[in-house]
Amino acid sequence: MAEYICVLNKDSIIIKPAKKTPILLRMIVLLFAMVCGVFICSVCLKQISTNSKIKIQDIQVIERPSPDVDHENFQISSVHYPNPETFTRAECVHNPVRYFAILSMQRSGSGWFETLLNSHVNVSSNGEIFSVLNRRINISSITQTLDKVYNLDWFTSASKNECSAAVGFKWMLNQFLLWENRVDKEIVADTELLGPKVHVFYQLLYPGVMKHHTEIADYFNHRGVSVIFLFRRNLLRRMVSVLANSYDRHAKLLNGTHKSHVHSTEEAETLAKYKPMINSTLLISDLKEAEITATKALEYFNSTRHIVLYYEDLIKNPTKLKDVQAFLGLPVMDLTSRQVKIHKGSLSDHVMNWEDINKTLNGTAYESFLQSDY
Ligand SMILES: *[C@@H]1O[C@H](CO)[C@@H](O)[C@H](O)[C@H]1NC(C)=O
Ligand SMILES: *[C@@H]1O[C@H](CO)[C@@H](O)[C@H](O)[C@H]1NC(C)=O
Ligand SMILES: *[C@@H]1O[C@H](CO)[C@@H](O)[C@H](O)[C@H]1NC(C)=O
Ligand SMILES: *[C@@H]1O[C@H](CO)[C@@H](O)[C@H](O)[C@H]1NC(C)=O
Ligand SMILES: *[C@@H]1O[C@H](CO)[C@@H](O)[C@H](O)[C@H]1NC(C)=O
Ligand SMILES: *[C@@H]1O[C@H](CO)[C@@H](O)[C@H](O)[C@H]1NC(C)=O
Ligand SMILES: *[C@@H]1O[C@H](CO)[C@@H](O)[C@H](O)[C@H]1NC(C)=O
Repeated sequence: MAEYICVLNKDSIIIKPAKKTPILLRMIVLLFAMVCGVFICSVCLKQISTNSKIKIQDIQVIERPSPDVDHENFQISSVHYPNPETFTRAECVHNPVRYFAILSMQRSGSGWFETLLNSHVNVSSNGEIFSVLNRRINISSITQTLDKVYNLDWFTSASKNECSAAVGFKWMLNQFLLWENRVDKEIVADTELLGPKVHVFYQLLYPGVMKHHTEIADYFNHRGVSVIFLFRRNLLRRMVSVLANSYDRHAKLLNGTHKSHVHSTEEAETLAKYKPMINSTLLISDLKEAEITATKALEYFNSTRHIVLYYEDLIKNPTKLKDVQAFLGLPVMDLTSRQVKIHKGSLSDHVMNWEDINKTLNGTAYESFLQSDY
């Protein structure tokens, strides 16, 4: 074995010469040393490169533009400063804007709720923009439409343009509610009107929010869109309203014009004269279906910043509207609507086969729907 022994002795260093070893052994040692060297070098290089990667990432994180960092934090990300392509925000350019989407079901008070919101000088709620098939035909057209709305480049009678502090629209969840489709066909058969056209109409009503929920929830989180769920507690009253509205689409009780919402008591009374018949065999499963849709929507959009509202609470408790304004970061105002409720008072006055319905729901989880006023 080759041994190099260093001995420190007073001032001098004596190096004992190594024993004579065969040349082969020396070569092996040399080779071993070289391999070790290469190995150590490569390890060092690796460490240096990972270190530098981390450093680059650190810098990137620090220097990343704020919108990307923002969506980790809802407080910051729910505030925006859009740059419309079609106009300048003028005096309001430094006012923040919130993005929202109202997720609701037909006949749950969302039309009324939108008129209330739009009575605020800084709110633009643009209605059911996805009722147009082309805008929701695939996820890229949905995204394009959303981009345009949130960039303030979408114009409806509700747009406040420069001074919008909250901008959004409403989106209906219930594209898969079977009974509405079925019931509509039954009514059409009854009135012998408009057969195929109704189907087309329903196709137009069915938006893709539940179908594309993953992508849309991602979009909402990424762009900092706040969700306002608006549901109706009394699903039986909702059902009566759907049936009556569906009937009026064909019967056109107000001087030959179909109206989903009215602005006078006379009009409300005229529409309320029609008493729908509810299919009691399917009643429970139909109510359940509406319930499941609402639950699913809550699940799908649970990760977004959201608030859950009920139509009945908005009617009974005016402070709820203040909660909504606070949720949207708005200066609080009194909100008003000219809309008049169509089906007032006891539900028993508005259903043809009330006894049957009373019996069907008696003793079930939905029994309370029989009594409540709204
Ligand atoms: C989405 O629909 C639009 C309009 O029909 C079409 O032009 C576009 O190619 C579609 N995009 C995808 C990804 O399918
Ligand atoms: C609301 O609108 C008014 C009038 O257009 C404007 O003066 C005000 O700055 C706006 N407020 C916010 C918070 O955008
Ligand atoms: C419908 O007709 C009645 C009487 O003909 C009239 O008083 C009423 O104003 C009309 N309503 C609408 C909405 O046109
Ligand atoms: C209720 O619906 C079922 C299933 O569609 C149907 O068979 C039945 O005849 C309906 N009942 C009434 C009273 O319309
Ligand atoms: C939403 O998520 C929270 C926390 O992850 C959970 O506690 C809650 O039950 C969820 N709600 C729904 C409706 O899924
Ligand atoms: C409701 O159910 C109770 C028992 O749960 C029964 O005593 C009562 O007669 C029922 N009422 C009607 C209207 O069916
Ligand atoms: C249901 O029927 C029972 C028995 O006829 C009656 O006492 C009760 O008032 C009815 N409920 C409603 C909400 O009409």
